[in-house]
Amino acid sequence: MYSAVVITSSDRAYEGIYEDKSGPLLKEMLERAGYSVRESLILPDEEEMIYDKLILVTGELKPDVIFTTGGTGFSERDRVPEATIRACDRMAPGIAEAIRAYSMQYTKKAMLSRAVSGIKDRTIIINLPGSPKAVKECLELVIPVLSHGIDILRGEGEK
Ligand code: MTE
Repeated sequence: MYSAVVITSSDRAYEGIYEDKSGPLLKEMLERAGYSVRESLILPDEEEMIYDKLILVTGELKPDVIFTTGGTGFSERDRVPEATIRACDRMAPGIAEAIRAYSMQYTKKAMLSRAVSGIKDRTIIINLPGSPKAVKECLELVIPVLSHGIDILRGEGEK
């Protein structure tokens, strides 16, 4: 069984101004795909807090994958990619590239997501855009391939 952590980056959801629908959707879709979701949390759009959490989670919970949602756009406070790049030992750009390419069929605005993906220790970190619609579209692409990456990272996969 694979394990996951979900992090929503949103000032408004953190302050309770608006309900986070993307985090719960991510959790639901991951559980349906057989992942055990160890933690699902909301953070404000603060690079330092997101970075600290990525380090804490990869160090303590050691999940196979962390999905973030939100904070990948052009707004001044969209800082999830910066926090993720700092947290990762190695980038895995193909995941973010594939997500953007695949997402273009749904909206040309997909090119406006600065999302990145990489690896910290034995955890794959994948940024997704913030809307539930984007979460659904991106996960349907990523989930069927992800387990192969996790197996290789664990040293169990066939190349
Ligand atoms: N990708 C998919 N698959 N579906 C979407 O609806 N929305 C785009 C883009 N990527 C979208 C998507 C939009 S409108 C923006 S502004 C960027 O993601 C960044 O979103 P974020 O700031 O919520 O992270």
